[in-house]
Parts: sequence; C-alpha cells; structure tokens
Amino acid sequence: MRVVILPNAEQASLFAAEQVKKQITRKPTSVLGLATGSTPLKLYKELIESQKRGEISFADASSFNLDEYLGLAPEHPQSYHRFMRENFFEHIDIDLNNTHIPQGLTDNPITSCEAYEAKILEKGGIDLQILGIGRNGHIGFNEPSSGLASRTRVKTLSPSTIDDNARFFGPDETQPTLSLTMGIGTILDSKKLVLLAYGDGKADAIKDTVEGPLSASCPASALQMHKDALVIIDESAASKLEHQEFYLHVERENQKLLKTLGL
Ligand code: GLP
Repeated sequence: MRVVILPNAEQASLFAAEQVKKQITRKPTSVLGLATGSTPLKLYKELIESQKRGEISFADASSFNLDEYLGLAPEHPQSYHRFMRENFFEHIDIDLNNTHIPQGLTDNPITSCEAYEAKILEKGGIDLQILGIGRNGHIGFNEPSSGLASRTRVKTLSPSTIDDNARFFGPDETQPTLSLTMGIGTILDSKKLVLLAYGDGKADAIKDTVEGPLSASCPASALQMHKDALVIIDESAASKLEHQEFYLHVERENQKLLKTLGL
C-alpha cells in the first residue's frame, strides 16, 4: 500500500487527478471506477478543468460507479445517478452510454447485480477505481462485517452511514436504508485502487485501513491485500497514523525514484 500524505484536501485532490490523467493518457479506453460523496468532488472539478484545457479526453473511456441507493430513481435529487451527472458526466466528453451505475429502481436486484458484474467483465475489468471511505471504514456501501470476497449485491446501511448521509435528504424526503454496491471482492479486482480521505473525521478509519489488522470490521483494510493500492490523504486524516513519518520518508524516496525513471 502506498500512503501519500499531503498538507490539505486541495493538494491531495490535485495529486489524485494526476493519477487519473496519467491513466487516461496511457490508455484512452480506460475503464474508470467512480465514487460519490463529498470527497471526490475536487478531483472531479480538476478533471473537468483538465479536459477543458485539452489535456485529456474521456471520449473513449467508460465508467462504473460503486453504488446506488436501492429504491431511488435516476432522476431523484439524492440518487447517485443524478450526483454523477451533475458533478461530472455533464461537464466532460464521456459517452453517457459508456457510464454505468447500479440501477436503484429494479424489479430484481439480484439479477441486476449479477448483470452489473457481467458488464464489468465484458468491458475488461476496471483499470482504476476511485474510493472514498466512510467514518466506519466502509468502501462503496460495504459496511463493517461485509464479506472481504463479496460481489455486487444489496447491502443494508449502518446507522452511522444513515446519520452521515441524512444531511443530503430534506425533511419530507424518505432516506433509503438499503443500497446496491460493488462488493469488496469486486473492488479488489480493479487493477489499481486510489482511496481518498480528508479531514479528522476520517482519521480513525484511515488508521484502521492502513495500520489495523485486515478485518471485515474495517472493510477498507481489504486494500492491504491489493497489489496496487494508493491511499491519498490530507494531514488531518493522517493524524492518527503511528508511522506517519515513515510514510512521508517513503514517499520522498518514491518521488526521487519516479523522477529518475522519468515517470
Ligand atoms: C457514501 C458512499 C461512499 C463514500 C462515503 C463517504 O456512503 N457510498 O462511497 O465514500 O459516503 O462520503 P464523504 O466523501 O461525503 O465523506
């Protein structure tokens, strides 16, 4: 696991954007795994600007989102379909037919989750998956106790996740308690993982992800099993890491090496 600690969310988002830009430049037909939540918003903004500057294009890329609320129509203001359209897809040159998000309105969630998995495989798998993290260590909507080999399926949201996301729902809107989410096994199949976390509210989850035991109690700790996982965090999210100084030292060495290799 490569841990990159940057002074603030702004710089961390720029660093994350560089990773996506490199990916899309190296392979314009990249399959991107995308996340919702407030954390990746600055990353999406930077990618939109970068495309406007003509540095990159998503015209040949495709995408798969991690999750969606079960029961919400794509037009619902709090749906992740709407979030992605408004915060990213509408502003870039991606072909909307090549964007995929689990269908919140489905008669048969089981077959629709299986179809989602099949579609990912048909596209050749995800090249780079962006991840946020919940305060309880969830990735996607894989709450604590999720199977570390789980696949796309229906998951019940934990009370802490429902609380955290309540701020997005108006008093007269029903907040869903179920979701459709890629499983941890699905996420681990991605060729590269990039997890972002900002702010001290994420410090415990990051401590458990990076330095805790591999455990379903912290779903993000599954990243320890991945051969190419990059954790990009700001100083606040890193504040509870015991080996902070070591990660900073390793990253300085990495940068020297990458420079020497011209990467
Ligand atoms: C939701 C999403 C996750 C996201 C998490 C954190 O629960 N399903 O994919 O990582 O929220 O959100 P935020 O980035 O707003 O803290």
